[in-house]
Amino acid sequence: MLCFHSTSNLAIQAGKGLPDEQGCGAVLQRGCRLRQPGCILPRPPVLLRRRFLQAAAGAVLAVSLGADWAQSLAQPQPPAAPASGRTRFLAVADVGSGDANQRAVGAQMAAVHRRQPVDLVLLAGDNIYPSGDIRLVGKTFEEPYAALLAAKVPFHAVLGNHDIRTENGNPQIAYRPYGMKGRFYSVRKGDVEFFMLDTNGNAPWSQQLSWFRSALASSKAPWKVVVGHHPIYSSGLYGNNPELRAKLSSLMQRHGVQLYINGHEHNYERSRPIDGITYLVVGGGGAYLRPVLPTAQSAKAVSAYSFAELEATDKTLTVTAWDRNGKQIDRGVLVRKP
Ligand SMILES: [Fe+2]
Repeated sequence: MLCFHSTSNLAIQAGKGLPDEQGCGAVLQRGCRLRQPGCILPRPPVLLRRRFLQAAAGAVLAVSLGADWAQSLAQPQPPAAPASGRTRFLAVADVGSGDANQRAVGAQMAAVHRRQPVDLVLLAGDNIYPSGDIRLVGKTFEEPYAALLAAKVPFHAVLGNHDIRTENGNPQIAYRPYGMKGRFYSVRKGDVEFFMLDTNGNAPWSQQLSWFRSALASSKAPWKVVVGHHPIYSSGLYGNNPELRAKLSSLMQRHGVQLYINGHEHNYERSRPIDGITYLVVGGGGAYLRPVLPTAQSAKAVSAYSFAELEATDKTLTVTAWDRNGKQIDRGVLVRKP
């Protein structure tokens, strides 16, 4: 029995329940039918959402470290030596719970690196729940990714909506292991250039867009990848975002961006190419999951604790997604236009 969100494609299985912050308890009544008007799910009320996240953070702090985390500590990784001619990286978002789900995903990320080293890790925001408090960075970053950090794999983060709740994210920008050169910045590695954006509403948009325009125009990288926290195309709770699309998509199209990576949606989704751009949601990094139903724009959509492994050669960019148990949940190949 399913109920649909009024402005997105989200379906909630009646009776299964989502956290109260979604307001589902009030609407998922017995007898609820598909697309029945009484079953419309309202937008999450801000106050309820805050209360839920505060409570969740309290619970997170009370959780002791699990066995998988202890295991990753016991196995220090050898230094990374990525294969030449290939750029390999991991992408994950909405990680900052500090709980067993985040640690399980972190352990699988380390396992991928052990099998075949990666050059870097992208964190697509909501790095620390509930409010970006840098004092929680041990629990939400240093511990879950200790094996990757010990192997000296660089991380590069962007700010999510939760991260800016403390001093507008400035303590995270100053925290060097997050690899942020600023609120927005670019990183070049091999054939890939990463454009890291602050997609929050209060970002310095005119300054950022002017930098983005000229950084894209001057980039000679064969692969251009943009990373922001918020979705542009999504089949999850928030759905497509016309406002962000208006800000970014035509610019990305004009300058040959092939991939946009985001979180905010707590699920995994890879879109079909939309005007030449693939939109990749990697929000299964640790925060509680939400259900997702594939839509016509989805190549794959899964509600799973997960992350993506990406490998770029001069001709192809391969996306492989893994769940918290190391099971492959997606694989797709982007072919570069000459
Ligand atoms: Fe978010």
